[in-house]
Amino acid sequence: MSSVKIQPIKKFSKRLKCMPDKSITHRAVMFNAAAEGTGEVRGILLGEDCLSTADCMRRMGAQIDIKGDTAFIKGAGGFKSAELYCGNSGTTMRLLCGLLASQNGEWALSGDESLSRRPMNRVIVPLSQMGAKIASHNGRAPLSVTGGRLKAIDYVMPVASAQVKSAVLLAALGADGITTVTECEPTRDHTEIMLGCMGAELARRGKTIKLRGGQKLHGASIQVAGDISSAAFPLVCGLMTGGTVCVENAGLNPTRTGILEIFEQIGAEYDIENVKTCGGEKTGTLTVRGLGHGRGFKIDRQMLPRLVDEIPVLAVLACVLGGESVITGAEELRVKESDRIAATLSLVRSFGGCAEETESGMIISPVGKLKGGCVFNPCGDHRMAMAAGVAAAASENGATVENCECADVSYPGFWEMLNGR
Ligand code: S3P
Repeated sequence: MSSVKIQPIKKFSKRLKCMPDKSITHRAVMFNAAAEGTGEVRGILLGEDCLSTADCMRRMGAQIDIKGDTAFIKGAGGFKSAELYCGNSGTTMRLLCGLLASQNGEWALSGDESLSRRPMNRVIVPLSQMGAKIASHNGRAPLSVTGGRLKAIDYVMPVASAQVKSAVLLAALGADGITTVTECEPTRDHTEIMLGCMGAELARRGKTIKLRGGQKLHGASIQVAGDISSAAFPLVCGLMTGGTVCVENAGLNPTRTGILEIFEQIGAEYDIENVKTCGGEKTGTLTVRGLGHGRGFKIDRQMLPRLVDEIPVLAVLACVLGGESVITGAEELRVKESDRIAATLSLVRSFGGCAEETESGMIISPVGKLKGGCVFNPCGDHRMAMAAGVAAAASENGATVENCECADVSYPGFWEMLNGR
């Protein structure tokens, strides 16, 4: 495991291409591998999580050739039984449970230490109601999925999770009857968009999605939009150091743009140009130019799914704002790649910031510039490592981030980007 020492950066100004979206890459690769015919996914994220998905699909018989950043995929036409290693990726494991539940075969799904701690009952419960056979270790991985006939259900989701919604929708494709899924809060809708691109019919009315079973997917040519959750790191670094950062091809799907609502709340100057549609998703060039009045922000339960992965770096930003920032309804952060409430509190405090834990989130008080001068261990969580990198760059003394290679899960080349190479 290696460490990286990040020196303070005076003014982080940059123009860069957005990292490809992790959620969209997973889905484009997985769904094409499950489809009839061939598909082509351009501009894929070559991060470790997405490579885990590609590897699992290959093990089940799909042909996936990755040349540069394009994946050429030939569907498996029925999946072979296999042992599937999902690495650090919750998306791979949870979506696969849904996809495989109606297929013929048996699959053993495992993951790394972090993934083996994460709750899987959230997918096992609805899938079992549909008739799926999934064995677990007290609701955690390793899992064993035995495929069989499924029936449609009407599922009201108790947690706001795009992974759970996607697992149920994928199972519904292979089930008898019409399934409905009702969300408690709207979550990212990449699955719905992509199923539509691949020939499936589904309808949304308010918070409910309706999907008829027995539909086949057809291989599609998809260009992956940029990942606004990855763009958040350079954007926040620019805001904190008084630089101008411009990210091209940033994904602007409204289920993901909570960070723009934060920019509005704090009065940050930003603009969006060159708006396009890419693989059914809105994208654009997003530029931030300055903090503006820099008041504190508020995030609540309704807003959380639109910026769930940005909380650690937004908490870092909160330290330099002109007032208190309050995050509520964020219990889901406890079950991410690490307990991100505990990890974010520890990050803010190690850098000299002031954060207080609350029942469902945290309150961050302003301290002016962060001191840094610390050694931070992200405990294998990519987003914690990158948030610490931004904190270090914007601090007085810089800092060392241990186990820095974990950033490769979603942002290969992150440290080079931050260090200006
Ligand atoms: C993801 C959904 C989110 C997010 C994760 C990726 C997805 O998780 O945190 O990084 O690709 O569907 P939940 O749906 O569990 O909130």
